[in-house]
Amino acid sequence: MNKKREFPNWKQLYQDQPLESMPWFYPELDPDLDEALTKLNLRQGTVLDLGTGPGTQAMALAERGFQVTATDISETAIAKAIDKAKERGIDISFKQDDILNSHLDQKFDFVFDRGCFHVLSPERRQDYVRLVGSLIERSGYLFLKCFSSLETREEGPYRFTPEQIAEIFTGQFNLYSVKETVYYGTLEPLPRALFSILKKREKS
Ligand SMILES: C[S@@+](CC[C@H](N)C(=O)[O-])C[C@H]1O[C@@H](n2cnc3c(N)ncnc32)[C@H](O)[C@@H]1O
Repeated sequence: MNKKREFPNWKQLYQDQPLESMPWFYPELDPDLDEALTKLNLRQGTVLDLGTGPGTQAMALAERGFQVTATDISETAIAKAIDKAKERGIDISFKQDDILNSHLDQKFDFVFDRGCFHVLSPERRQDYVRLVGSLIERSGYLFLKCFSSLETREEGPYRFTPEQIAEIFTGQFNLYSVKETVYYGTLEPLPRALFSILKKREKS
């Protein structure tokens, strides 16, 4: 489960492949985030879509009235997402940014990470927790989608149990809820995933 995993060169990948063919491409708002926003009665505020890739989640959130910033390490992903958002007349602040060396200088009401955390190397996870924690307002939320340890495909990102998520994030967040679900996209069958709601600690 914890074997070293290989990932594509993100910059190259977005130059070479159409967005719609990517395993994570999902044109609607992720249903697990949709459910969480309803449960927590979150209807407005500032959001960071971290590792936005094709930008589908950022666009769906902006269409719901959130003020969205969307970042990705890949400049090409950002350029393509900007074009798509322009075509649809959606206002989003897109920025090229590596979360592990972030230049973002504002805090957000919540951060959505659908697939970035689970591609980072295990040695950088605590850096991620600290950095993402510093980008979230007090009592704000991190909504995290990552592969579950129940996923059996050989290839792909790192996988996690609910207990691992609680332990990794404990320095900055309380695990509000976690559920077994799927990663909506273009793969058949859909990969098994965890959807976690992490609440930033009052004092962290
Ligand atoms: C599995 S894709 C998910 C894309 C998007 N969130 C979605 O759900 O369609 C992971 C994304 O994380 C981005 N990424 C990888 N490492 C990153 C980093 N250090 N900082 C920011 N983005 C990163 C990749 O370029 C890629 O677009």
